[in-house]
Amino acid sequence: MIEPYCDINYKWVKLVKSLIISFSISADWTYSGTHGPANWHLDFPDCQGMTQSPINIDVSKVLFNPQLKQFDLSEYSKTSGIEMRLVNKGGHTAEVEYSGDKIHLLGGNLPDKYVLAQFHFHWGSASRRGSEHKLDGKAYPMELHLVHYQEHLNNLSYAAPHPSGLAVLGYFFKIGAHNKNFEQLLNYFPQIKTSDQHIEIPTFPLLDLLPSAKVNFYRYSGSLTTPPCSETVIWSISTSFIEIAEEQMFMFRDLYDKENHTLADDFRPLQELNQRIVESNDPRFSDDNDGSGYITASTAAVTLSLLLSLWFQ
Ligand SMILES: *[C@@H]1O[C@H](CO)[C@@H](O)[C@H](O)[C@H]1NC(C)=O
Ligand SMILES: [Zn+2]
Repeated sequence: MIEPYCDINYKWVKLVKSLIISFSISADWTYSGTHGPANWHLDFPDCQGMTQSPINIDVSKVLFNPQLKQFDLSEYSKTSGIEMRLVNKGGHTAEVEYSGDKIHLLGGNLPDKYVLAQFHFHWGSASRRGSEHKLDGKAYPMELHLVHYQEHLNNLSYAAPHPSGLAVLGYFFKIGAHNKNFEQLLNYFPQIKTSDQHIEIPTFPLLDLLPSAKVNFYRYSGSLTTPPCSETVIWSISTSFIEIAEEQMFMFRDLYDKENHTLADDFRPLQELNQRIVESNDPRFSDDNDGSGYITASTAAVTLSLLLSLWFQ
């Protein structure tokens, strides 16, 4: 009597499991194949909007905006009362999620207070690619995204659909010397090799991973680079890079996605800039050698974009 009962039970479990799997596949997304970036908009319509990310930053067209203040990352050195959880997030990225006391992103002319929710990476299977944004068409081996939400909107998921709900600070990586500070993170990668594995890690100062507490940056309005591609992100890309050794990149390329394939090349292709302007507060763009016409045009464009952003607030 026991066996047929078990058999029926087993069939039900199988049916429910296959329903769950087919549902999750239809709402799922990947970086290649039929659920790849070219088809994201079928399930997530915002992915074909006019202000999508990432973009190529054409350095010759960047407008110097001396009104933009540097970021002040002093709160990134906080550790007390803060918990860090390392996750192989859906087989899409390695992510650190924050809980406990709040870490604020200060400066940078953001329209409100923003709180750090998580950071994650996009990397290549080889070091000639990996970053999402590009500079003059050039990709870098990896890009770090520090994701913040507008404080009064309480949390990341609630803030994501709100205009200016999110502020992401990005960094490009370049291959160089061994970066000892990254061991505080990379030492735990063997424990998140497969999709959705996670582990609480000892809290370390996030500032350790970054070149400086004062940050000059490129600024533009864009979107999440993963579904649902919400066009609610104030993007800032640091003009200084993080240095990491090639053998440390292997730690990233040693993780696995949902299909147990190597997790790498988890970057979205470039999106159209359309009418957007990229600004920067980096003094290297203040060079006015090429004449007053350029300065007048750039000042006019910056003023226009400021007026537009005020109008739409
Ligand atoms: C996020 O904040 C909203 C608005 O306050 C709240 O309704 C929701 O439960 C919160 N979600 C989580 C996961 O905390
Ligand atoms: Zn990202």
